[in-house]
Amino acid sequence: MNQPPPTTPAAQTSAKHRPLPSVPHRGVRIAGTGMAVPERVYTNADIATLCETSDEWIYQRTGIRQRRICDPRKGESNLTLCTNALRNALEASKIPAAQLDAVIVGTITSDMKCPSTACMVGAALGAGTAQAFDVAAACCGFVYSMNLAHDLIRVGTHRTIGVVGCDSVSCFTDFTNRNVAILFGDGAGAAVLHATDDATKGVIAQINKADGTGWDNLFVPGWDQQIPDNADRQVVVPGCLHMNGKEVFKFAVGTFQNLIKETLDMGQIKVEDVDMFVCHQSNARIIQAAVDRFGIAATKVYVNIDRFGNTSAGSVPICLDELVKAGRIREGMVIMFVAFGAGLTWSSSLWQV
Ligand code: UT7
Repeated sequence: MNQPPPTTPAAQTSAKHRPLPSVPHRGVRIAGTGMAVPERVYTNADIATLCETSDEWIYQRTGIRQRRICDPRKGESNLTLCTNALRNALEASKIPAAQLDAVIVGTITSDMKCPSTACMVGAALGAGTAQAFDVAAACCGFVYSMNLAHDLIRVGTHRTIGVVGCDSVSCFTDFTNRNVAILFGDGAGAAVLHATDDATKGVIAQINKADGTGWDNLFVPGWDQQIPDNADRQVVVPGCLHMNGKEVFKFAVGTFQNLIKETLDMGQIKVEDVDMFVCHQSNARIIQAAVDRFGIAATKVYVNIDRFGNTSAGSVPICLDELVKAGRIREGMVIMFVAFGAGLTWSSSLWQV
């Protein structure tokens, strides 16, 4: 039962400033997970037919063997991936779409600029009038959204939220540009978060940050005037993803490790108390650097970049779903989600599930 909100002097004097309803002892559980990837596989050998690169170079520098790429002629798109991933998560949770209070989609590759992908996913699945909106945080899209959804449930305004992380970066990849063609793949993952009376379940610590001063290291210019003056116009092209790989790599290695440390400190736990790290699959070398720095057991860090490439907002929830399906995430475990990407953005979420 909901308790009346605490009475504060402000609440007594002004109806406008009533505190949000809060539910004591409310926890949040991950009720179900799902994923969806395109059928079409692009191996490194396929990429090497489109730009000057090789299977050996790509695998050594990134850990990637292949990725999935949407085929619009077969009706595959960001929307179909999001919808299928959330449908699968709802099925796993045994919660009908009509019970969702919100659909949140972390994506920067929506099929349409308007409306949000979340509105269309909600409509496709029968979510009725559930609140729906997208979160544009690039590779952090899922972790940002998951933290937000968690807090909405914890505070008591929502009970059930479908969270999707999805990107189909192929829609703005120039496959003749080897800087980006080798790295990204398309894919979606989703989780259904649901209120529980067990207050031990949910987020122990979370960090959500951005530094917009680094935006020009990873961006898609809309038109010519948006290209920075100092950029090489042969390389930076309107409508195509541009990445300063070296700079992003440096940012990612440092940020990833600081993020893990700060999240552990915030949660007041030791690295060995974390049962599983669910990390953004940006580059296997970036993940390995964090593993080496903290001495994390290889069994506690999931890596699937070899099969899917870097799916941006899709990578963390795809890992989550594969781990859940493999029985490697079980009730009571402590899990850390970690992501970083364009913006620049970085985000973590430490859970007891
Ligand atoms: O998820 C969003 C955030 N994104 C990331 O986290 C990506 C971060 N960056 C990276 O993962 C890496 O910077 C890349 C994988 C993109 C590039 O790897 P790198 O080790 O930084 O390569 P590099 O740009 O330093 O290039 C090394 C060499 C150069 O040749 P020289 O000058 O040593 O002769 C490049 O010309 O490799 C060459 N090279 C390539 N060769 C074959 C660069 N790209 C390629 C390529 N294929 N695709």
